[in-house]
Amino acid sequence: MEIKDICCIGAGYVGGPTMAVIALKCPQINITVVDNNSEKIKSWNGPLDKLPVYEPGLAEIIKEVRGKNLNFSNDIKGSIEKSEMIFMAVNTPTKTEGEGAGMAADLKYIEACAKDIAKYSKSDKIVIEKSTLPVKTAEKIKEILEENSNGIHFEILSNPEFLAEGTAIQDLFKSDRVLIGGDSTESGQAAVKALSDIYSKWISKSKILTTNVWSSELSKLASNAMLAQRVSSINSLSALCEKTGADINEIAMAVGMDHRIGPHFLRASVGFGGSCFQKDILNLAYLSKFYGLDEVAEYWHQVVKINNYQKDRFVKKIVDFFNAGIKSKSIAIIGWSFKKGTKDTRESPSIHVACRLLVLGAQINIIDPLVGIERVIIDINEYLNDYGLSNAEVKQLSTKIKLFKSFDNKNFDLISVIHDISPEKIKNLKSNNIPIIKI
Ligand code: NAI
Repeated sequence: MEIKDICCIGAGYVGGPTMAVIALKCPQINITVVDNNSEKIKSWNGPLDKLPVYEPGLAEIIKEVRGKNLNFSNDIKGSIEKSEMIFMAVNTPTKTEGEGAGMAADLKYIEACAKDIAKYSKSDKIVIEKSTLPVKTAEKIKEILEENSNGIHFEILSNPEFLAEGTAIQDLFKSDRVLIGGDSTESGQAAVKALSDIYSKWISKSKILTTNVWSSELSKLASNAMLAQRVSSINSLSALCEKTGADINEIAMAVGMDHRIGPHFLRASVGFGGSCFQKDILNLAYLSKFYGLDEVAEYWHQVVKINNYQKDRFVKKIVDFFNAGIKSKSIAIIGWSFKKGTKDTRESPSIHVACRLLVLGAQINIIDPLVGIERVIIDINEYLNDYGLSNAEVKQLSTKIKLFKSFDNKNFDLISVIHDISPEKIKNLKSNNIPIIKI
């Protein structure tokens, strides 16, 4: 089956970079990325230094393919109509209300997407789950599509995305693996082949793994859970190190040199952030509970609990440092995004740390080269509103925040390091003779 037109619904951190790379590697395919947020589409079509997503190398690719075989548009109907293949790359946050609130994935965006596909399709389509979804979601999508289909055939594939923000382009160019889950029927296998033909333009066939749909859906949750588990494991040991005089960096080195364990993801930190780990593990725990596997649910839930514990522990370290009181102390926070190299602040541990310190009366100075003050204020508002503060109280606390693009010998009482920065930078910071707190 030859694919000439692709539609991707969702122009976010996954939809934008993924489609840019497919467009670059497959010049014969026309790709339209659509979104119901018209501001976002406007900025994808705007200046290259103001794209909605910052990723090293992304702007260069967009420059090459935008307006040729990659377009960003609000025309969801027209794009669905003309495409043979449709990627669903919409957000799947944790549910905030109803059954499973606080744990299960909220599938309302993916369901809305499926309804649009059913409504606007006039010919057979391959529909691809690019978003991270709970196992068995394809069943639900199939139901929605078939209910409204008018005899059109939809083939559903699962093709989860494994890119990490900050290295998205590099990850897409050199994926460890591309996973495609499809039905074993003739049409299912034809769809799997059509998608793997696209990836095989730049990924070696040995790295394109095909499975059934359920394995593919669950593999993505399993991967994120395993990665986050490593972070929580090393972070739990950092607490023990601080009690005993052992050095967590030395522990990580000693443990990681065992080839059965390996060195990656063993850097102790204030905790993982980002839009994925927490929501995906909670979702995995919820699914386990749903299937009556309470012990399995509790096992994975513990990874999130340690992450919260680590953030609280860091706040306590700062509070304990000022044993005469933290009120009006001027504290620098190095890093606002959830990790360096991205401007994405979703679930950033810095938000938790800063807000808790603000509530205690501290002055907060954020140092981050990529994030803007509007974003910081939104993050603080959301956190403190959830924490129970009124808008007036939040507004008052917001006056105690400053944002700097770089560290230029400011006069702080303490520097708290949240981003993973190099030993040389730490050495430079130390030369200011301001006390430093880090994990
Ligand atoms: P995002 O929030 O950056 O982008 C999602 C986009 O979908 C938004 O622009 C939103 O306006 C749009 N959208 C939502 N409903 C829509 C609808 N019905 N019609 C049209 N547009 C709609 O989300 P992100 O980060 O790109 O994540 C997307 C999915 O990919 C999630 O399931 C996430 O778990 C997964 N994922 C995310 C990764 C990441 O690093 N951000 C990595 C791998 C997977």
